[in-house]
Amino acid sequence: PLSAKVNSQDCLEIGCCDVSELVQQFGSPLYILDEETLRTACRQYVAAMQKYYPGSSQVLYASKAWNCLAVCAIAFSEGLGIDVVSGGELYTALEAGVTADKLYLHGNNKSKDELNLAISASCTIVVDNWQELHNLVVIASINELTNPIRIMLRLTPGIECHTHEYIRTGHLDSKFGFDPNQLDDVFAYIQKQPSLNCVGLHAHIGSQIFELQPHQDLGAVIVGWLKKASTYGLQISELNVGGGLGIRYTESDDPPSIDEWVKTVCYSVKDACSAENIPLPKLLCEPGRSLIGSACVTAYTIGSTKEIPEIRTYIAVDGGMSDNPRPITYQSLYRAVVANRMSAPQSQKVTVAGKHCESGDILIKDATLPQTNVGDILVVMATGAYNYSMASNYNRLPRPAAVLVNGGEANLIVQRETYQDLIRQDRLPARLSN
Ligand code: LLP
Repeated sequence: PLSAKVNSQDCLEIGCCDVSELVQQFGSPLYILDEETLRTACRQYVAAMQKYYPGSSQVLYASKAWNCLAVCAIAFSEGLGIDVVSGGELYTALEAGVTADKLYLHGNNKSKDELNLAISASCTIVVDNWQELHNLVVIASINELTNPIRIMLRLTPGIECHTHEYIRTGHLDSKFGFDPNQLDDVFAYIQKQPSLNCVGLHAHIGSQIFELQPHQDLGAVIVGWLKKASTYGLQISELNVGGGLGIRYTESDDPPSIDEWVKTVCYSVKDACSAENIPLPKLLCEPGRSLIGSACVTAYTIGSTKEIPEIRTYIAVDGGMSDNPRPITYQSLYRAVVANRMSAPQSQKVTVAGKHCESGDILIKDATLPQTNVGDILVVMATGAYNYSMASNYNRLPRPAAVLVNGGEANLIVQRETYQDLIRQDRLPARLSN
């Protein structure tokens, strides 16, 4: 889906921009985000929701995948709302111009400051647990709020799926959401709180999921909760089925399409509603990875190599686990190309290492690549999701810049950090500074 091609110099072009030239202009490593791919995925989600769901619907972008001003603004301009999970993400979305009616705040331990920011911005708060419910009631009473706080409830659906255990959230033993076995107590409590306006219910199963069955099963579960809410006199008008659709990182990955995934969630909710004879609620979903994952690549410069005869050849790039912590965290697999030698024969098996002081700092084990030279540009594909957003300054590496490409134009959307940035928050105690 990435709008990439190879130009007459045998170089990779993304958004009609030559990747080697981008690296010359903006430095290395560099996140290169293709606007067209991101917008296309947004449109596919919105169009599929409209096609398969007769009721009203809203696609939210789960901005934890990549939250910055430009990405929030692009998603919002495509009609998407934004799911945020912290005060920082909320602040960024607000600064990007996202309006309150399209903002949803998640989190299993929101601070009072975060709740207050959400309330003053009038966004919807997706309440995760009992403590948060109590905190909201107290905040409403201390501040003598006149309008009830717009909330949804996150529940654990008790649905298992096949993905890495760190990114599974649907099982009952999850840290997220209310235990559905306590639903009666939760509804009874909320029904008595005039300061809370509970408009919806939410469930999220997990991430990088290739099966459709878990989302097929979710409709009946979540609509069952909706039915229960009505017995408590609660007018629930929104259901959010979360995100989770996986993307293709390597040749062997074969995820369903956006259209297939949306069709599944829509039919599952629609069928459950008609079985229960319930009018269709507004349906929300909140994908992250499948919107932005394939839209970005990371360009690195190869700086050194190490050949251990008959064992392994390492090629080392100028980034690594600080700009892409996914391989070391989840054993995630990636695919790479040499951007300045696109049609050269894939003649060697090498291990792409980062530059961090850690043996596990390997981006790709046993990548098949053409012969490489120091100075070549190695591009790791599909790095849009959870790379920039999980990046760190480990070993005091400045975080890379990010550039948005489209139709031959390149715009910096995140500036490269400098050494000055790295010590900006450092303070020397006075007695050490002379
Ligand atoms: N909604 C909720 C409540 C979530 O917790 C998540 C992801 C999403 C939506 C978006 O899921 P997606 O469509 O992106 O799968 N850092 C991990 C992924 C963590 C996902 C956390 N929650 C990774 O790099 O694989």
